[in-house]
Amino acid sequence: MAEKVWGGRFKEEIEERFHRFNASIEFDWRLYPYDIMGSISHCRALKRAGIINEEEERGIISGLNSIKEDLDQGKLKFDSRYEDIHTFIEKELIKRVGDAGEKLHTGRSRNDQVSLDLRLYVKDAIKRVIDKIKGFQKTIIQVAEKNIHVIMPGYTHLQRAQPVLLSHHLMAYYEMLKRDEGRFKNAYQRADVLPLGSAALAGTTFEIDRHFIAEELGFGNISRNSMDAVSDRDFVIESIFACSILMMHLSRLSEEIIIWATKEFSFIELPDSLSTGSSIMPQKKNPDLVELVRGKTGRVFGSLLSILSTMKGLPLTYNKDMQEDKEPLFDSFDTVIDSLEMMEMLLSGVRFNEKIMEESAGQGFLVATDLAEYLVTKGVPFRKAHELVGKVVLFAMEKGKELNQLELKELKGFSDSFDEDVLNWLDPKDSIKRRSITGGTAPDSVLQQIKQAKEELKI
Ligand code: ARG
Repeated sequence: MAEKVWGGRFKEEIEERFHRFNASIEFDWRLYPYDIMGSISHCRALKRAGIINEEEERGIISGLNSIKEDLDQGKLKFDSRYEDIHTFIEKELIKRVGDAGEKLHTGRSRNDQVSLDLRLYVKDAIKRVIDKIKGFQKTIIQVAEKNIHVIMPGYTHLQRAQPVLLSHHLMAYYEMLKRDEGRFKNAYQRADVLPLGSAALAGTTFEIDRHFIAEELGFGNISRNSMDAVSDRDFVIESIFACSILMMHLSRLSEEIIIWATKEFSFIELPDSLSTGSSIMPQKKNPDLVELVRGKTGRVFGSLLSILSTMKGLPLTYNKDMQEDKEPLFDSFDTVIDSLEMMEMLLSGVRFNEKIMEESAGQGFLVATDLAEYLVTKGVPFRKAHELVGKVVLFAMEKGKELNQLELKELKGFSDSFDEDVLNWLDPKDSIKRRSITGGTAPDSVLQQIKQAKEELKI
């Protein structure tokens, strides 16, 4: 039989299948540490308000602590007869401490309680994600530093475009992750608001010191409107949004790794220990890890859309629809944390085929822009230089040569502005070195990026 916290006005028992449909304990059990933490602070506030005495306070707190301990150690099991984690803990408390336990829910509703628990969860989860982001950023920096000399083609439209340093390419992901961290910090601020005191929706009549509870639980702010406090799930949506963008970034990197590991590219070799084989094709080595990160990105996007859709038509204040916020939220953070760990492991184990990468940067006229810019230094307007070099490229293509294989006299056939010194412009290394502008791919600029990144991470 279902164990409820709301039986009084009902003549009939709850229908068993409906109870199961209605219940959230199967997934909200994860909130138990936060629920207990919140209840302890609420209990202290009740004592300060004169609603319970010192002995009751002591009893409730030690009861809650023993429940926490038993749950941590698996001595106490979650039980599907209870609708949700809040009901479970409250009923268990009453079992353990009797009458005092019956007083705990004074001035509180599950509506402000669940908002509190979720906020505490989100704040914790964000801290964990930021930690993982930083770990992955450190790995990116290490790999970038170790391979500072490696040259590769940079792409637009997945067509070879201009030579770049592999480190420059990798550090682009450092920047994305840095913005992700910022988005999580932002979402944190929105979660950092104490809803307790709002009770069901209109605010409690008891003199609960909200600032005291906020201080106890480490909240930066208290909510200013009780109706908003119990019906707001923006902080859930924002944090899943931050998860989504982060996943989108990881997915783009995954895609690149998948492409680079193909025979066609052969830029990288994935570690055996982080790859899989085929059940039929003995030669296969598959990049499942990054494919899964790419695949799981879709599921986080799905979670974002699911909670947005759930919230869009809800009148104030609490509606049971909002119970649907937890699974997408937990799933998004679990996915992001796992994916960051996996990506970090993989990136530190990737072997780069420097030779092939560098050769690829030397094939496909990647220095054509440089050739046009050379002409600009000789006084040719850029648009004219572009047109002219286009013709040089066509000529080289027909001859089956790269630009640096053309002879000076062949170049002179296109323009008198070509001189001996043009030959210093057509090596991919020269092309890279010339891009020493802040944010460019020249080794000095990339080392500067790395230096700043290390300062940011205090390494
Ligand atoms: N399990 C519920 C949830 O997750 C808790 C809040 C229930 N409140 C209520 N008035 N039924 O949303």
